[in-house]
Amino acid sequence: MTSPSAGQPQPFQTGAQAVPTGMAGPEQKARLLSRVIDTLTTGSGLAEVVQAVAGLVTESTNTDVCFVHLLDEDGHKLRLMGATPPFDELAGTVELAMGEGVSGWVAAHGEPVIITDDKRADPRYRYIPSLRGEEFVSMASVPITTGGGSRVGVFNVHTRTRREFTEPDMELLRSVAALVAGAIENTRLHQRLADREEALEHFAERMVELQESERRRLAGEVHDGISQRIVGLSFHLSAAADAVATAPQFAAEQIASAQHLADAALEETRLAIAGLRPPVLDDLGLAASIESLARSVPSEEVTIHVDAAPCELAEHLETAIYRIAQEALQNIVKHAGAQRAEVRLRQTDSSAVLDVSDDGQGFDPAALPTGGGRPVGYGLSGMRERAELIGARLEIDAERGQGTRLTLTVPRNGGSRT
Ligand SMILES: Nc1ncnc2c1ncn2[C@@H]1O[C@H](COP(=O)(O)OP(=O)(O)OP(=O)(O)O)[C@@H](O)[C@H]1O
Ligand SMILES: [Mg+2]
Repeated sequence: MTSPSAGQPQPFQTGAQAVPTGMAGPEQKARLLSRVIDTLTTGSGLAEVVQAVAGLVTESTNTDVCFVHLLDEDGHKLRLMGATPPFDELAGTVELAMGEGVSGWVAAHGEPVIITDDKRADPRYRYIPSLRGEEFVSMASVPITTGGGSRVGVFNVHTRTRREFTEPDMELLRSVAALVAGAIENTRLHQRLADREEALEHFAERMVELQESERRRLAGEVHDGISQRIVGLSFHLSAAADAVATAPQFAAEQIASAQHLADAALEETRLAIAGLRPPVLDDLGLAASIESLARSVPSEEVTIHVDAAPCELAEHLETAIYRIAQEALQNIVKHAGAQRAEVRLRQTDSSAVLDVSDDGQGFDPAALPTGGGRPVGYGLSGMRERAELIGARLEIDAERGQGTRLTLTVPRNGGSRT
């Protein structure tokens, strides 16, 4: 920025001067906003955009550092996504709950906060050692909210020495926040689309594999079971045909055996078909099917508590939820070492939510082994692919020693049909 000449309104004072600020001139404001727009339109990933905006904001507001905290997709947690150096290295490592600290308060209330000095006296302030709050005196925190009113995050500027933030300063910060909000929303939408496309690709591959193995299974069952029965049946019928005139008793025995084989073939055909789709869903509906799934879990150590409300959902959504619940329970039995597990299913006007939690050993999802860049186990990635395909959100909250919680939120009308 050029230095303002004497007598003119001062845009933003550096903290070092420790005097109240004057107004940001309309020209400076326009210049900053246009640079922000350039940055937003040329940056590629969310992290890159956020980082660049943090730099622009500190430079143009003569502040010493800017932190950008974004809300996660469910709006429960704020995560530091970008900051000016040296704090840029902390991106992704600092988390605040909604309502926690000044940033959490601003995100929860959607209103800015200015603290000119003595942050620690403010009951909303929370000291986070890595952010070195003791080195900064004044701060302003502004909500990042989209035009449609959805909250995206918060950005904070701090100064090393005392500094007043005037209404024009705040106005400028709010304008930058509005631009950033739109860009973040767009970037997230793009990311979601890209994830969904990738999931579709994986799903297509997996479907081909599944179809192949399903075909092999059916071929095996038809060859080893059903067709053997039919060969036997045909043999007994020809013997009966040959004997019917001369030895009716023998012919009757042959027909009885043929009848027996026909029943067995029919039963085996039913079983082969049942393996393709969970028939229990058609018989009982989703809630009762999940209860019956939990009852069938082969484990004596874990007690499974189910609270499943009846839901009205399209068939493909029911199948996806059922399969995800099935894999989640299988994982609990195989890996969790849990004593207690809970499965909850509930429905609102817009979505159905499946929640499966256990009190077992938990795990670190980021540290799972991979083979050739893909996870070794199919279960978790299969669940994610299914969720992506129906436009659902799958969250896995697992930490070593803390148990595991899986939450699947399925939009009732929004998902695409599989
Ligand atoms: N509820 C759980 N508790 C503890 N660890 C779990 C739990 N769920 C998953 N895991 C961990 O995550 C890993 C990956 O799970 P995933 O279902 O993808 O694969 P898998 O169960 O090992 O194999 P597959 O599902 O393909 O038979 C597991 O090997 C296990 O270490
Ligand atoms: Mg598994």
